[in-house]
Amino acid sequence: MAIKNHLSKMEPGTLLLEATNLGKTYETRQGMLTVLNGASLELRAGETFAIVGKSGAGKSTLLHILGGLDLPQRGRVRILGEDVYGATAAQRSRMRAVRIGFVFQSYHLLPEMDVLENVLIASMAPGRAWAGRQTARQRALTLLDAVGLADRADHTPTELSGGEQQRVALARALMNDPPLILADEPTGNLDVATGQQVLDYLFSVARDLGHALLLVTHDERVAATCTRMARLQDGRLVGPAIA
Ligand SMILES: Nc1ncnc2c1ncn2[C@@H]1O[C@H](COP(=O)(O)OP(=O)(O)OP(=O)(O)O)[C@@H](O)[C@H]1O
Ligand SMILES: [Mg+2]
Repeated sequence: MAIKNHLSKMEPGTLLLEATNLGKTYETRQGMLTVLNGASLELRAGETFAIVGKSGAGKSTLLHILGGLDLPQRGRVRILGEDVYGATAAQRSRMRAVRIGFVFQSYHLLPEMDVLENVLIASMAPGRAWAGRQTARQRALTLLDAVGLADRADHTPTELSGGEQQRVALARALMNDPPLILADEPTGNLDVATGQQVLDYLFSVARDLGHALLLVTHDERVAATCTRMARLQDGRLVGPAIA
């Protein structure tokens, strides 16, 4: 499968993400727990979309499934028309490396690497051939500067606060210039001013490059600044999830 790199603008309105009728049930000690039950959404280039919902509603589960990280039992996910779970694991890894920037709720930085290396690691993913190490390094430093951490490049994650780690995770997610950014509470640990700066940056990427941002947030004010918003409730997305 040929995957194009997207260090260029997306055509506005391009259908980036299409999730149909997703179903996910976990087997727990207390029995079966259905978290997703018919969740669907569409996301187009240039859009910013917020998912809200109670703790435990299944927002992270949904985001992982949309990002090719967790298999749904029912439904389909397409990214730029490509069936994510119809692909082989290797193809899915490449799709993730080139098309998706994922910001985990719990960051998942590598503790033995410094901040710059944590961002650069994205450029070493399969399917993502950077022109040269210097170009990649320059981009990583530019992104660290954009999230306000240029002077922390040689620190390790343990030397950073939660909010600083969150911003490193964000820089890493943007490293390969993915057309689809999935962010789980990207401002959850940030003060209002820093959170707003991070959001402004993410929104400018979506607006200027025609990329799409799907974010999970508990903050209704943040959700209100997105172009669309839906609530995850009883396993479904309620609201204008499909334009
Ligand atoms: N691997 C798993 N095995 C069993 N149950 C799980 C698993 N992962 C998540 N769950 C359960 O599924 C439900 C949804 O979890 P999820 O993390 O998606 O919620 P969330 O909406 O992201 O919550 P929060 O806002 O607190 O981050 C929870 O009740 C959780 O306990
Ligand atoms: Mg969560």
